Order: sequence, then C-alpha cells, then structure tokens
Amino acid sequence: MKTPRSDTDTLEDEEPLLQDACLVDGEWRGADDGRTFAVTDPATGEVIASVPLMSTGETEAAIRAAEAALPAWSARTAKERAAVLSRWAALLLEHRERLARILTREQGKPLAEARGEIAYTASFLTFFAAEAERVRGEVIPASTRESRIVVLRQPIGVVGCVTPWNFPAAMITRKAAPALAAGCTAVVKPAEQTPLSALAIAELGRQAGIPPGVLNVITGDAPSIGRALCESPAVRLLSFTGSTEVGRLLAAQCAPTVKKLSLELGGNAPFLVFPDADPEAAVEAAVLSKFRHSGQTCVCTNRFLVHDDLYPEFTERFAERVGRLTVGSGDEPGVDVGPLIDADGLAKAADHVADAVAQGAEVMVGGGPHRAGGTFFEPTVLRGVTPAMRVMREETFGPVAAVASFHTEREAVDLANDSRSGLAAYVFTRDLARAWRVTEALEVGMVGLNTGFLSVETAPFGGVKESGLGREGSHHGIEEFLELKFWHIGGLSSPGAAATS
Ligand code: SIN
Repeated sequence: MKTPRSDTDTLEDEEPLLQDACLVDGEWRGADDGRTFAVTDPATGEVIASVPLMSTGETEAAIRAAEAALPAWSARTAKERAAVLSRWAALLLEHRERLARILTREQGKPLAEARGEIAYTASFLTFFAAEAERVRGEVIPASTRESRIVVLRQPIGVVGCVTPWNFPAAMITRKAAPALAAGCTAVVKPAEQTPLSALAIAELGRQAGIPPGVLNVITGDAPSIGRALCESPAVRLLSFTGSTEVGRLLAAQCAPTVKKLSLELGGNAPFLVFPDADPEAAVEAAVLSKFRHSGQTCVCTNRFLVHDDLYPEFTERFAERVGRLTVGSGDEPGVDVGPLIDADGLAKAADHVADAVAQGAEVMVGGGPHRAGGTFFEPTVLRGVTPAMRVMREETFGPVAAVASFHTEREAVDLANDSRSGLAAYVFTRDLARAWRVTEALEVGMVGLNTGFLSVETAPFGGVKESGLGREGSHHGIEEFLELKFWHIGGLSSPGAAATS
C-alpha cells in the first residue's frame, strides 16, 4: 500500500518556484482552451500540481516567439549572453534545496540525488557561459594567392528541446545552456510526468534576465507538441533525450524539413569485470551504476559480464551489498532507492525478472515488487543469466542487475557489442594494455574505466549505433547549435605584397 503523506507535508515552502502555467514570450500563460493535466508524486500516487495541457496551437505560438526573439539575442555579444547564463546558474544554486524538493516530489529520486542533479543542472550553465566566448571562426589556406577562406560559426536558429522524466532538471540546461550560449532561442517541452522542475528553472531564467521569447517552456500533449516542433520549418534543430523508439519517430517527422537532430536515446550498457579487477571497487561501482536513480538512467548498467574466475566472489559480494540498500520515498532520510516512475516501469522490471527465471536464472536478492507497494521494486540481483534473456537484450530501466559470465576477453567484447544500442560501457581491469584494447573495441560513445560514473558537464555525452546522434556537454556540445558558413573572398592581393599607393 502506498502511504499518503501527512497534511503538513506539502510543497508550500517551494511555492515561490512552483508554476501552474507555461512560459511563452516572457509571459506565464495557460492552454488556449484552459485544459490542464495532473502531476503526481510517484511515491504516493497523490496529485501534487496541475499544469497546462498545451497542444499544436500553443507550440506554434512559442515557436513564433522564439523566432521573433532570435535576431536580438544572437546579436548580443557572447559576453552579454554569458552574463545571463551565469546569473541563472547562481539563482539555481541559491534555490538548490527548493528545486531538489520539487524534483523529488514529482520524480521520486532520493533527495541526495536530487540535490546532486541541481548542482549538475547549474554546472551546464556555468560551463556554457564560459564556452559562449570560445566560439571562434577559422581562416583556411586558400587555393589562389588572391583569395582567402574564412569560416564563420553562427547560431543554427530556433531549437526544439524535448526532455525526459528521469533527469527533469539537468536535461533542460544540458540543452538550453549551449543553445542560448550559441545565440539560439529555444522551445522546451519537458516530460509530462515531471514538468514542475522545468517550469521552476524557467522562472529562475526569467529572473536572471533571459529576454521574452528566448526561452519558452510548454507542457502538454507530447505527440502534438513533438509533431509541431518537428514539422515547423522555423525550428532548425531538434534536441531530444528519451527512448530509441520515440527518437526514431521524431527523426522521421523531422525529415521533411531536413532538420538537424541531436538524439540521446536508449542504452544497454555492459559492465565488464576482468579477472585482474579489484572486486571490492567493482562491486561498489556496480551498485552506483545500476541502482543510482533506481536504475532509471540511460547510462546505467544493463548487463554485468564477469570473468569466470571472479564470478562466484563478485555475485556473492554484490548480492550482499544490494540486499543492504534501503527502499523508500525519496524524501525519507537514508533512502537509497526510490519508486519507479510509473506502473509500466514496474511491470517491465517484473517481466524481465520473470522471463529470466523462466529461462533458468537464479534470484539472489529481491525479485519482485517491494512491500511498500505502488511502484516500488526490490533491488534485485540475478545470476546464471544468459544473452538470450530479455533482461540482457532490452533496457530494463529498473533496479534489476543481471550478471552473466565470460571466459575470454574476446568473448566479453563480443557479448558487450551484441546490441543495437551503443551508449555507455564500464570496464574493470588493472591491466593498462587490456584497458586500451577493450575500450577501443567497444561500440559505445562512453567508457567508464574502473568507475561506475560517467556524467560530467565537461565531457561529450552521447552514443553510437541506435543510441543516438551528436554529443551534449563539453566544448563539442555547443557545436550542435552552430552552423558553419564559409566565406570565399576573391580579388585580394598576394600575401606579403605591399600596397604601392
Ligand atoms: C540520462 O539518463 O538521460 C542522462 C544520464 C546522465 O546524464 O547521467
């Protein structure tokens, strides 16, 4: 049974940041027809807020606002844009606790993780504020003495940003910060499950001095908002984080307008433990990588592949450690694993366990819905897992760790690459030559070597194969929002020729 919270435990303290309207052209407004939808707390199922149920018409209005704001915003100097982003970062950090509480209530992750996410959210603003001033052109050697080739980097224009529910705050700035730093304007659609963080962050952006129309945030019907963003010729880039299935659909919808795409899609991360690894460090990293945010991150491990020699020790230690994780509501002290986002998430975790057990896997710990009820699922470790099982082939997105074994390095790499996804991988070894060999052979965009954690604003986050296109974060992240324009200048003098008049 889900336990309702006490009457006094409301989001009252967070009210200065709570919005029940959307930000379009600098104004807070509702849906044209006044419709709203409910936002619920996944820990209790209680309704915590209502936000506008917007659709095509409001999306088109937001795009028009972004188009109108583009000339003035892109004409600002990089320093001026950077100053706004820096103020926005400072406000986020000033309100960190409030934002973390809103995030936990709408999303479910433990407060400590939510606080970490708000710091991560601010880090993209700080990083891209500095990066704004590093966008440079080039001069390329020309083919004749009388010509020059100059390359300009210019903002791509209006961008559409569609963000997921698993990082309701950080994914807003991972997209909006480089967009605004580059001189673009944006229309952001947060996930229906978690709009409150996005709206609160937008309000702080407004307070930081983002001009009307530069950042628009709309909530509502995902298919119609997504379609309007994809089909608009005015939107020149669609940046999406979410499932591969939806990414494929959005890419198809963007084809008629030949829109640039930045897609951060699903993963199926392998975690390779070689016989020379430090087993204790590998277990700690495995817990972090698998159970952070209840296994609901696209970079979280989906397949543990452990060398035969270490398999018994690793699985025993891992199961013992996982058995000590505390499950509960994200705002309770000491909780490690919160609820899953919804009933579908719970059903998928349960199906993956059932399928593995039916095919011969053994449940070492956990294995089913948690006694707390609702969408809480027991942190689970399965051993005796084989590559044919669904838990190995599909992204579980829940707190279920499937551990298989391997004999040789070649086999480990082949198993790891046996996936249409290619986002992240983790490798545990103390052999430097092996670390290089394996990293170079893995078909992924990111590798954690002797660590279970990857995400940082200074590194290029993204995948290969069906895990996506483009990179977010780092100096590469701003490139997504810039177009190259080359200028071929003719009729000049030869280099070094002095003017005679
Ligand atoms: C994601 O799961 O989409 C993002 C994960 C991260 O930045 O750590």
